[in-house]
Amino acid sequence: MSEKATLEYKGKKLELESVVGSEGEVGIDITQLRAKTGMITLDPGYGNTGSCTSDITFIDGEKGILRHRGYAIEELAEKSSFMETTFLVLYGHLPSAGELSTFEGDIRSEAGLHYGMKSHFEGFPDDAPPMAVLSAILNALACYNTELLTTATEGPAFTVPAAKIISKVRAIAAWTYRTSVGKPFMPPRPDLSYTGNFLHMMFSETFNLYEPLPEVERAMDLFFILHADHEQNCSTSTVRLVGSSRASLFSSVAAGVGALWGPLHGGANTEVIKMLTNIHENGIDPKEYVEQAKDKNSDVKLMGFGHRVYKSFDPRAKILKGQVDNVLKALKIDDPLLDIAKELEEMARSDPYFVERNLYPNVDFYSGILLRAIGIPVEMFTVLFAIGRMPGWIANWREMHVQSLRINRPRQIYTGETLRSYVPMADR
Ligand code: CMC
Repeated sequence: MSEKATLEYKGKKLELESVVGSEGEVGIDITQLRAKTGMITLDPGYGNTGSCTSDITFIDGEKGILRHRGYAIEELAEKSSFMETTFLVLYGHLPSAGELSTFEGDIRSEAGLHYGMKSHFEGFPDDAPPMAVLSAILNALACYNTELLTTATEGPAFTVPAAKIISKVRAIAAWTYRTSVGKPFMPPRPDLSYTGNFLHMMFSETFNLYEPLPEVERAMDLFFILHADHEQNCSTSTVRLVGSSRASLFSSVAAGVGALWGPLHGGANTEVIKMLTNIHENGIDPKEYVEQAKDKNSDVKLMGFGHRVYKSFDPRAKILKGQVDNVLKALKIDDPLLDIAKELEEMARSDPYFVERNLYPNVDFYSGILLRAIGIPVEMFTVLFAIGRMPGWIANWREMHVQSLRINRPRQIYTGETLRSYVPMADR
């Protein structure tokens, strides 16, 4: 028997069931609220609303905990690979050697793109925003795979489109970049890892193959692991919302890309580098910048700071910060933006404005510096976030269909005009 909550309004009482998660989180079940009372709840921004139950990812924002399927992100970051973590997020358990090998084989066999897609890339202007191209091409993939436009959650009808999207998103990213700089496409190599192949398709030249330093390939793989899932964030909720209409996996993840693009979500990694570059190139005093970020009359925010869920620290930021130092050292790069970032972090961490509001560096604060050091152009940063987040989007889409949830359709409280008569044009 679950504990009940009582809601009282105008003398009438309603008992509401509670749902307790495996980590003790409590949700009040209001699914019968409107049917029994005619009322709804109001929660703009959904900060207090659980839209589903989920077995995939657990976050305790107060304690800075992130776990996928019960495994701590710190342990996955240290011991796992992106492919293994992807399998885990999708299917709920760590793969056996055989399962991982089959899974990697499926991904490998989908690494290239249909040659017919070349014209799509060439049809975009050179300066097309890469997130727009990614979303468009993910939808275009559906045109080449119409037999896969189902909502299946098991067997090849699910595993094939899932492998296609997880694998081809790398080639889409690389083709987008290469088209924008006028370079020919580089076919994938079957001998390389998931991440090695991505770096190859991005940076190899016909007679000069790109050989990443082990530190670089590992850091890139780690970046993908750290982005693999993050429960019901803006883009994942979008994927679920679109998927709830029984739209295909292709169009659901394409919608996720749209949501991720924004500067308050995945676009923040780009904004962080723009902010640090602005401070560096214009000789702005970091202290002055922090003051502007605190000023409610300015549009300035300390990008890469704050999070809707994490209120002590973002564990992903902690892990990435260590990697940034490693990679810069291996590449013998001395990046002045890193010094500025560290200075901003130090100031913000001792400033009551940030401390009182629990604003700490999030995953995007250091990821941009890492990607920049690896040679990823800043316009591509959010596309890389999307590559990493693909397992989470797909796992959530699958879970929603396994649970066979109703179409997502929030309500509203209408605050506009009440009924009024139409006024003829001459009288207005
Ligand atoms: N710089 C300055 N002030 C801030 C910042 C910031 N980065 N973030 C929040 N605040 C202030 C905000 O003005 C508000 O102040 P007050 O209470 O005086 O009105 C208070 O802190 C609470 O902020 P909020 O906007 O209510 O918080 P939210 O949960 O709605 O938004 C956020 C979370 C991440 C959108 C926001 O912190 C932000 O805009 N950060 C910068 C963008 C960023 O780094 N986004 C990446 C998020 S992590 C990657 C991902 O998962 O997408």
